[in-house]
Amino acid sequence: MTNRKKIIVGNWKMHLNVQESSLLVHRLAERIRTHRDVEVVLAPSMLSLQPLSTQIDRRKFKLAAQNAYFQDEGAFTGEVSFAMLQDLVHYAIIGHSERRVIFNESLDLVRDKVAAALRNDISPILCIGETKHEHDQGESRQVLHDQIATGLSNVTAEDLDMVVLVYEPQWTITTFNGRPAKPHEAKAAMDFIRQQVSDLYGHAAGENIRVLYGGSVNHETARAYLELEGCDGVLVGGASLNYVAFSTIVDKAYQLQRGDEGESRV
Ligand code: PGA
Repeated sequence: MTNRKKIIVGNWKMHLNVQESSLLVHRLAERIRTHRDVEVVLAPSMLSLQPLSTQIDRRKFKLAAQNAYFQDEGAFTGEVSFAMLQDLVHYAIIGHSERRVIFNESLDLVRDKVAAALRNDISPILCIGETKHEHDQGESRQVLHDQIATGLSNVTAEDLDMVVLVYEPQWTITTFNGRPAKPHEAKAAMDFIRQQVSDLYGHAAGENIRVLYGGSVNHETARAYLELEGCDGVLVGGASLNYVAFSTIVDKAYQLQRGDEGESRV
């Protein structure tokens, strides 16, 4: 048994205006209890971070940015820096496959964003995973290896504690018409990811790092991932916009942490 705290991340993507975001948080707050052993992280749009940072109970929810730019300031029209987000968020999602694929984010840019987040005391939720084409070509391990080696190349052993990794391959994401990874597929990839971290930073680091799964997770499928040995949580896209579904997923994580066998209360 390890003491890695489970994390459930809700990635709201480009959905919900400020008012709608506030309403969703309100509804979630009514259903979700404060869980010492489960972190609940919400990633609303950039615009909603400021108002939500004053609305949330920080014992219950933490906020994550979905993206930011790696320079702290400067002439970068349209960008927001990690430095500007420092007081608002605990986490930042970096390297999501929508950013890698739709916005052509390179391995080097992702590496620089990870470093910028850490420099500004924000924990990177670093997403890694292969495209459908790479998956079909049998290149998954090579892609994961490269994304981890580059993404973490400026991360010291000391800072690694702040990093969360997500196996979130493009072929499993609803946006890309994906199908959920079968639990054994997710487990094999997550084990490989942990092994890569061990190879780079030593066995203890590999044991301590939190590794999540993301891709078409909903309240019916979450448990099968959450109970996998070595899976420390899930990153939820579409289903995180539904307060009943998302709070059910959080509840399942809590039950598993407590060792309950019973069904969810919701
Ligand atoms: P999805 O998104 O749950 O809607 O497939 C997953 C993700 O953003 O990683």
